[in-house]
Amino acid sequence: MTACIVGWSHGKFGKLDGETSESLIVKAATDAIAHAGIEPKDVDVIYVGNMNGGFVRQEFHSSLALQAHPDLRFKPSTRVENACATGSAAIHMGLNTLAAGKARFVLVVGVEKMTELNSAQAGEVLIKASYVAEEANIEAGFAGIFGKITSAYFQRYGDKSDALARIAVKAHKNGAKNPFAHFQKEFAYEFCRTPSDKNPFVAGPLKRTDCSPVTDGAAAVILTDVTTALGMKQAIAFRAAEQVNDFLPMSKRDIIKFEGPALAWKKALTSARLDLLDLSFVESHDCFTSAELIEYEAMGLTAPGEGERAIHEGWVERDGKLPVNVSGGLKAKGHPVGATGVSMHVMTAMQLSGTAPGALQLPKARIGGVFNMGGAAVANYVSILEPLR
Ligand code: COA
Repeated sequence: MTACIVGWSHGKFGKLDGETSESLIVKAATDAIAHAGIEPKDVDVIYVGNMNGGFVRQEFHSSLALQAHPDLRFKPSTRVENACATGSAAIHMGLNTLAAGKARFVLVVGVEKMTELNSAQAGEVLIKASYVAEEANIEAGFAGIFGKITSAYFQRYGDKSDALARIAVKAHKNGAKNPFAHFQKEFAYEFCRTPSDKNPFVAGPLKRTDCSPVTDGAAAVILTDVTTALGMKQAIAFRAAEQVNDFLPMSKRDIIKFEGPALAWKKALTSARLDLLDLSFVESHDCFTSAELIEYEAMGLTAPGEGERAIHEGWVERDGKLPVNVSGGLKAKGHPVGATGVSMHVMTAMQLSGTAPGALQLPKARIGGVFNMGGAAVANYVSILEPLR
């Protein structure tokens, strides 16, 4: 255990008309500093997680965090990017900075303002997180990549559309309890299962209800070392933090195996000296429902090809043996790319500190796992968190 999250903030996710990436960063930074009970001058280093790549014209974001307070002027601040795992990448930079003894307090902000573009245009930006030389001409943007993965999975293991619909229903049922979520209403199984005008096919077997939405939002954390954290109001410790990158081209991998995510989980559980079922819950990267299905297998909850058991048998429901995405996940909470990894850590910290709002709080939350993924199982981050005391 080397570092802790000692403050956090999470804004409402959704289509936030009137907000800019600047306003989102400033609010997230201000609120996280206040929540930690430190002064802006105490922040030594800042990382801003932002994928951007054309969602907004403002590409250079790092110093916008300094606008949260005049005392942040002249602090080193750097933008971090690692596709959909950008938020976790920024947190890892913070952990490395602490480990190197280069800071006492690190502010990490994750942000994305996506809805200035329509879904098709956003898809054009997101597809740049594929291996462009071979994959960028696929239809339907990044959803096309997962459409292809889902088709390959169905070919090998059979049609799993029932399981995907159940994963969507679970996400929205959980998201309905989350005041920060983009969508806060339940979706019926029949609606998610059946193609319709309101739920058309988007890519391959994936329908609209199988996709995370295009969302604006920001979240932030304050990180510090364990000794300092002992004197803070709240402290959620990293019991493990692992990163595993795989080849970018899907053609160089068996893409439905998710070997990078599996290795990241294995390394994290080993370094935490835990079994998967020691975790009270997991926030996992459900950019598409099929991603969550395959992640059940990658985390070791089921054997390959049997991921559907985890949802059909209720293991990953809120009251199951390993609740997955009680926050509503990317599917219902939304997936503002650069903010997502930070949001996952904040949702986990809230649960572990017993401060998740209202009905979102789990009755028993002792140790939480986070899996955040950039690209199609390319940049894989697992964190295991628990209260310091
Ligand atoms: N799930 C459920 N409902 C959704 C939704 C989603 N993902 N996205 C949009 N909706 C709803 C909207 O709220 C709206 O509802 P309303 O008619 O009741 O107001 C309706 O569907 C139409 O919204 P619109 O934005 O026009 O839909 P769209 O067809 O243009 O976009 C997707 C839907 C799925 C194509 C788009 O959300 C998308 O591209 N998602 C994937 C993003 C992505 O690739 N992220 C990176 C992953 S790694």
